[in-house]
Amino acid sequence: ALVTTKEMLLKAQEGKYAVGAFNVENMEMVMAVIEAAQELNSPVIMQTTPSTVKYAGLDYYLANVSAAAKEASVPVAIHLDHGSSFDLAMQALRKGYTSIMIDGSHSVFEENIDITKRVVDACKASLIPVEAELGKVGGKEDDLDGGCGGYTDPEEAKIFVEKTNVDSLAVAIGTAHGVYCGVPKLDLDRLSEIRKVVDIPLVLHGASGLSEEAIKESIKRGISKVNFATELRIAYTEGVKNYLKENPDAIDPKKYGSVAMEKVKEIVKSRMEMCGSINKA
Ligand code: 13P
Ligand code: ZN
Ligand code: NA
Repeated sequence: ALVTTKEMLLKAQEGKYAVGAFNVENMEMVMAVIEAAQELNSPVIMQTTPSTVKYAGLDYYLANVSAAAKEASVPVAIHLDHGSSFDLAMQALRKGYTSIMIDGSHSVFEENIDITKRVVDACKASLIPVEAELGKVGGKEDDLDGGCGGYTDPEEAKIFVEKTNVDSLAVAIGTAHGVYCGVPKLDLDRLSEIRKVVDIPLVLHGASGLSEEAIKESIKRGISKVNFATELRIAYTEGVKNYLKENPDAIDPKKYGSVAMEKVKEIVKSRMEMCGSINKA
């Protein structure tokens, strides 16, 4: 069933596991993610960034994920990832997205509080939960280059959550989107400090490229949602490339689509295992 991320993440926080949030870009990726969730009896979040939304539109992704959720026995949420403006957040809300991120992390602290609070207030009546970000996750995120990031300050996190009433918070503890700025070096003590002073579910961005150990330790220290994007794109594209290399005369998109889907499904299942969300549906 299609649900919000509210209960899903509170349950994960309580149970000390995380829900995987997977960036989907086309129908095949949606199909791969839902099959993985079904087979492992895991709750799942599918999410789209602004550049993905620009590619096909909110309606297409909502329709695809809704179709997947309708047949599913596991809880499924559709989330706007890195919502870049109040306007886009409101569009997603009106269309029926069941979870929304407003990413004000590129603005100064007060402005981030301001835009986050506006989105939280607007989503409240529809009971749609909001994720915000404080501090900068490094690397190349969507169309933006975040450089090497800037860590979340625990004291600021406390004030931010109190002032915005946001439902979940993405923290910057040394992870990066896509490629890493050198070797990933996570500030896990900082995560524990944030966890001490903030009681809402915490979100880890930039999980592609992290070791299983790093992901598990982050969850142990309070992460309840883990975002995976780049690894899925790589798996999908490798599937297509391999098929076309072996079958250069292929013209049926279903043929290489199926291979790509299997590749994505495989990686999603392994990430769900790392998150500890198996049989938590
Ligand atoms: P990766 O591309 O590093 O997996 O990051 C995903 C992410 O944070 C999406 O918001
Ligand atoms: Zn992210
Ligand atoms: Na990454």
